[in-house]
Amino acid sequence: MVTPASPVPIGILGLGFLGKILAAELKSVSESWGTWHETPPLEPLIPVFHFDWADENFWTALPKTPATLVLTIPPLLKNLEAENERLQIWGTWMRQNRPQLKRLIYISTTGVYPKRNGIWSEDSEFEADTLSGKLRLLTENILSQYFQLQIIRPGGIYGSGRGIDFRLKTGKPIPLSITPVHRIHVEDLAQIILHLLDNPDAPTCVNAVDLEAKPSWEVANWLIENREDLTQEMFQENTDNLPGTPQRIISNQRLQELRVTLYYPTFRQGMVSAH
Ligand SMILES: NC(=O)c1ccc[n+]([C@@H]2O[C@H](COP(=O)([O-])OP(=O)(O)OC[C@H]3O[C@@H](n4cnc5c(N)ncnc54)[C@H](OP(=O)(O)O)[C@@H]3O)[C@@H](O)[C@H]2O)c1
Repeated sequence: MVTPASPVPIGILGLGFLGKILAAELKSVSESWGTWHETPPLEPLIPVFHFDWADENFWTALPKTPATLVLTIPPLLKNLEAENERLQIWGTWMRQNRPQLKRLIYISTTGVYPKRNGIWSEDSEFEADTLSGKLRLLTENILSQYFQLQIIRPGGIYGSGRGIDFRLKTGKPIPLSITPVHRIHVEDLAQIILHLLDNPDAPTCVNAVDLEAKPSWEVANWLIENREDLTQEMFQENTDNLPGTPQRIISNQRLQELRVTLYYPTFRQGMVSAH
């Protein structure tokens, strides 16, 4: 794994699936820290503390010493106006009380792009067509008013314990939609974050999707053919949301221009063996 060259500590807001993998990469970056919400991590690799983004009383827990923030927490409210206000209040508080924490990398989602055929790149002009997409675009916009912001828009994040292989194993239904699913392995996503941490002048928004988007059922069929631990009997069909948008493509051109070499360029490398 790449070790960040930057001596600036990193503060991870949210030690979930991605946050934990990222924390493992930051062991050597002294004074880095992370926050937990409902359950403290068992063997944290960096110092951690309890933080609830929804509760102003917790904000003072954020260190006053300089750090670059990585925000992995999803939007908290389902109402655009209320979330807008909440973000503005937090941004104002941060500017007044934590001016040393002014650089932030926000983990957004490719879900901001419309569910329509088209090639969607970071520069595309569009409006989100789902509430969750609208909430993400709102968050991106508001955070840019308060922080020196870089945005990463990941596709479906998979890795150990999460992905189509895991769905097959646990008997979860596999969507039969023909919409290609854009994915990124969690370790590659962590790498992309490390790259941006070291390159504040890199583009302010990057789609994080690998080199081969495929519908979930195609990935499931490939897994059944190529993994001994996965069988046809495990394939439970989910026929919701048919037929889909076969030409909805999320561009990864900008990611490729960053020259981050993906460890798992496609699901074939990322899911070839059981974790
Ligand atoms: N999964 C995907 O395929 C995918 C795709 C694109 C984008 N994303 C987004 O990418 C980001 C990282 O993904 P992930 O898979 O690592 O998500 P995750 O595992 O759900 O991690 C999110 C973290 O945010 C914490 N959190 C939630 N509410 C909080 C609050 N009020 N205060 C403080 N912390 C809070 C959660 O803690 P608790 O669990 O303890 O509440 C969790 O540790 C998320 O925003 C996710 O929505 C995910």
